[in-house]
Amino acid sequence: MISVKRPVLLSMLLGVAFGMSLSDAQAASRLVQRGKYLVSIIPCTDCHTPGSFLGHPDMTRYLGGSEVGFMVPGLGVFYAPNLTPDKDTGLGNWTLRQIATAITTGVRPDGRKLAPPMPVDSFHNLTRYDALAIAAYLKTLPPVKNKVPGPFGPTQKPTSFVYQVLPPDKYMPAPPPGSPPPAPPAAATPPAATTPPAAAAPTLTVAPASPPPAAPAPAK
Ligand code: HEC
Repeated sequence: MISVKRPVLLSMLLGVAFGMSLSDAQAASRLVQRGKYLVSIIPCTDCHTPGSFLGHPDMTRYLGGSEVGFMVPGLGVFYAPNLTPDKDTGLGNWTLRQIATAITTGVRPDGRKLAPPMPVDSFHNLTRYDALAIAAYLKTLPPVKNKVPGPFGPTQKPTSFVYQVLPPDKYMPAPPPGSPPPAPPAAATPPAATTPPAAAAPTLTVAPASPPPAAPAPAK
């Protein structure tokens, strides 16, 4: 894991290097510590660290961007990007304000609105100080070079894993270890990315466990 000392030291050194007084540098280091604390309890890492959704988060590339994209019906497939300060593939060129704004409003510096998997509706409640604290902490992370795929539109084919909600009759359990690879499905099943948006909707209303009378789920 990331050591506690590194961000403190780094932010103080950065502060002093940029001509801040020691108390400014201490304020900067408090900001970074607050950000580190917030990121440790808000699960940014679940979505933004590679390997996390595959069961093996790669903490050497902490918050370095996910290889698993979220499928949002009708909108496309979105990969949680690299939050480290790498200039080419991460947030290296974003200011603290731009990062804080993206976290709390979902609007990127280029004006694009972030897709719903990024929990902006909750993060909207962060105070400006806390949002800037998170941004300041992200700036102290070791830069990771990793460009996440996408985003992909609803009709585009994603190039890496996709996180998708499936109804039970579409779910295929993994074969036991050592068994031959499964035969491809007989019917021409469309690939995950091109599943029409409507098909995903019933997922949320299916209650498979007990056999209640087959009344259609009441439409809300
Ligand atoms: C449930 C998953 C999830 C969680 C939790 C989450 N994010 Fe995200 N985040 C995403 C996805 C997916 C995107 C990309 C959305 C898009 O491209 O439209 C994103 C985008 C972003 C972006 C924009 C980056 C860019 O290059 O466009 C920032 C900044 C960000 N997240 C910061 C955070 C921080 C900080 C936290 C924790 C406080 C966090 N996220 C928690 C899923 C998540």
